Amino acid sequence: MDTTDLVLAIIHHLLVFSLAGIIGAEFVLIRGDLPAVTLKRLAGIDRHYGIIASLIIIVGIGRVLWGLKGWEFYIYNWMFWAKMAAFGIVGLLSIIPTVRFISWNRQASANPSFAVPAGELASVKTYIRAEAFVFLLIPVFAAAMARGYGYQ
Ligand code: HEM
Repeated sequence: MDTTDLVLAIIHHLLVFSLAGIIGAEFVLIRGDLPAVTLKRLAGIDRHYGIIASLIIIVGIGRVLWGLKGWEFYIYNWMFWAKMAAFGIVGLLSIIPTVRFISWNRQASANPSFAVPAGELASVKTYIRAEAFVFLLIPVFAAAMARGYGYQ
């Protein structure tokens, strides 16, 4: 039994579920009305997205280095790299929504009659939908990788 591996696995799961919660919250909030209070909430939730994603990277690297299977198990496994690529794509897809949330929140604070431009809203919805879809692939790759699929 290895306590380090267990603790890293627990933290990894908690962080991953938190990130799923954040993407889910953004997915739902963006579909409703967007008064200033909601824009503020979106910007606040999105700030946590960055923090949690950074922690996942740190803890994930910790699992590769100090997990039970050894780092070779992962770096020679294409499922691991597929998971990393999916995580990277989710990160890239989140850039435009983050920029928009900050800008909308700033504009709504300065101008009470601010309304989110329809074109910007439509593109942010598309990015978040794509983000949620690619995010779903990550646990699929993770489960396969953990069981040795993709290892050569
Ligand atoms: C830099 C980012 C990440 C790294 C380096 C990383 C690394 C790892 C490692 C080393 C394991 C242990 C697998 C094993 O037991 O052999 C693992 C498991 C897992 N990871 Fe990640 N991970 C990252 C991000 C994520 C993200 C964003 C998700 C979101 C869904 C995720 C979901 C999972 C799941 C569900 C497992 C458990 C798989 C299982 O035991 O069936 N990981 N990860």
